[in-house]
Amino acid sequence: MTKQATSHIEKVEGNYNLSNYETIRENFDWEDAKELLSAAKTGKVNAAYETIDRHVDEGYGDKIAIHYINETEKRSYTFREVKDKTDHYAKILKENGVKKGDRVFIFLSKTPECYIAILAAIKVGAIAGPLFEAFMEDAVRDRINDCDGTLLITDQELAKRVPQQDIPSLQTILYVEDIEKEALQPVDGDQFVEWVDWEDGLIIHYTSGSTGKPKGVLHAHRAVQHHIVTGKWVLDIKDEDVYWCTSHPGWVTGSVYGLFAPLLNRATVVIQGGRFSAENWYSLIEELGVTIWYSAPTAFRMLLSQGDLYKKYDLSSVRHVLSVGEPLNPEVIQWAWNSLKVRIHDTWWMTETGGHLIVNLPAEKIKPGSMGRPFPGVQVGILDDEGQELPRGEVGQLAVRTPWPGLMKEIWGNQDKFKSYFQYEGWYISGDLALQDEEGYVFFQGRNDDMINSAGERIGPFEVESKLIEHPAVEEAGVIGKPDELRGELVKAFITLRQGFSQSKELLEEIRVFVRKNLSAHAAPREIEVVDELPKTKISGKILRRQLKALEIERANANKVNI
Ligand code: WTA
Repeated sequence: MTKQATSHIEKVEGNYNLSNYETIRENFDWEDAKELLSAAKTGKVNAAYETIDRHVDEGYGDKIAIHYINETEKRSYTFREVKDKTDHYAKILKENGVKKGDRVFIFLSKTPECYIAILAAIKVGAIAGPLFEAFMEDAVRDRINDCDGTLLITDQELAKRVPQQDIPSLQTILYVEDIEKEALQPVDGDQFVEWVDWEDGLIIHYTSGSTGKPKGVLHAHRAVQHHIVTGKWVLDIKDEDVYWCTSHPGWVTGSVYGLFAPLLNRATVVIQGGRFSAENWYSLIEELGVTIWYSAPTAFRMLLSQGDLYKKYDLSSVRHVLSVGEPLNPEVIQWAWNSLKVRIHDTWWMTETGGHLIVNLPAEKIKPGSMGRPFPGVQVGILDDEGQELPRGEVGQLAVRTPWPGLMKEIWGNQDKFKSYFQYEGWYISGDLALQDEEGYVFFQGRNDDMINSAGERIGPFEVESKLIEHPAVEEAGVIGKPDELRGELVKAFITLRQGFSQSKELLEEIRVFVRKNLSAHAAPREIEVVDELPKTKISGKILRRQLKALEIERANANKVNI
């Protein structure tokens, strides 16, 4: 069964600043994207310079770059202040011996200091490695070890989850509390900027797949060509915009569309600290006058579940809304359209692609259930198992013609894995299944592997299984994504118990907490089911996750029938 749109939301004018999409579609060239950067004029390349310093040099130093808000405080920084602070951090990185190409990790919660530390690392030519704030010891250790990170910027609280003794390459830990205490001495110009080549490493994001531990996806400085142009056309950023992306920079959405794309386009960026609450989110929009809002389906569904709450707030500043990370169900689009009077523009891309590839350009026709159409300059193919293109309307592997500027440069230390994305000449294979209709709209149909997507976050079953079997009571484990109305999927573990252990509520809770405490909260199974035996392949004895998943889908369907 395939999912295609039965209705659509027509083009709307008015709310958007764009007017000439047809011209963009016809005339687009990635080389034009390069022209948007100051490097086109100066020949000097550095993504941090383009993101912040450039705007100061061009006379926008007094414009607000960042609004930070959490439950208890609110602060703002101009572009000049952000430049001064990145210089300050950059100076300290240099004093600590950081050189071009070094991997500098940043483990901080969503605060201005997190963004500034990332930019400072990039400014001095290092490769920034931002880590999601909910990671626990194992997740932190595995990532820094994988690419031999030498320096980490964190704070006293999160440092408790950094097992430095198990990370031999990690020579230095800097605490933001100390950096912030040192007197800041503004410097003129670009004395801390390391000029690099487009191909030099910019940022590394660890992302999960269906096998093995998370892989380090390395992007090059050239990716900012992709960021700036999609920020302009897809996010529709203009000078007066107040832009809010809800993702943490440890995830690719938080770095590319929370930091680079909006600031490259000189928007004022909102950083929100603290946990999700519908009240906080709505009041943030009202208080800061957010005009562009980029979030994920699970978050929209959480807001939807709050019913009429939105009526208490003035949300009229919002003119453009975007979504990413997981299927955006038509109900959510309809809800936003009816209640908030906005259209949600879905976007499809991946950590590996470094930027938007399939989008709904502002004001163009939206087909609920579809992720949109290829961004200008992007060619999508739906391939069969031999790598041949399928006719429109048929389901196959979602692939994209290579190359484009945001495409990853490498998978750190894993050439085989890198090559596996390019097994068909001239194509990047996403691992997603999709179909494309006659008008070019692409419809997501699921993954082609066992990767789990819960609340828009990629979770590798292998990682969770490996952690589970470290618990003394667990003999074997098979982990899958169980369909879930709110989160898309939730992490579910099927386990067998070792001899001498018997199932109890307390034991299952203990196992769940064990994963949560060691790996990360988002990867901890929300459901654990004890079984006598796990289904396995006859020859190699590998656990058949697909069979477990089929069982869950069958159960879900049976429940529906009962209702
Ligand atoms: C899924 C996030 C449906 C997809 C930027 C992809 C989506 C994976 C959408 C990448 C969408 C992303 N509709 N599914 N609009 N966007 N996905 O690397 O399975 O965290 O392969 O990048 O999320 O997740 P990642």
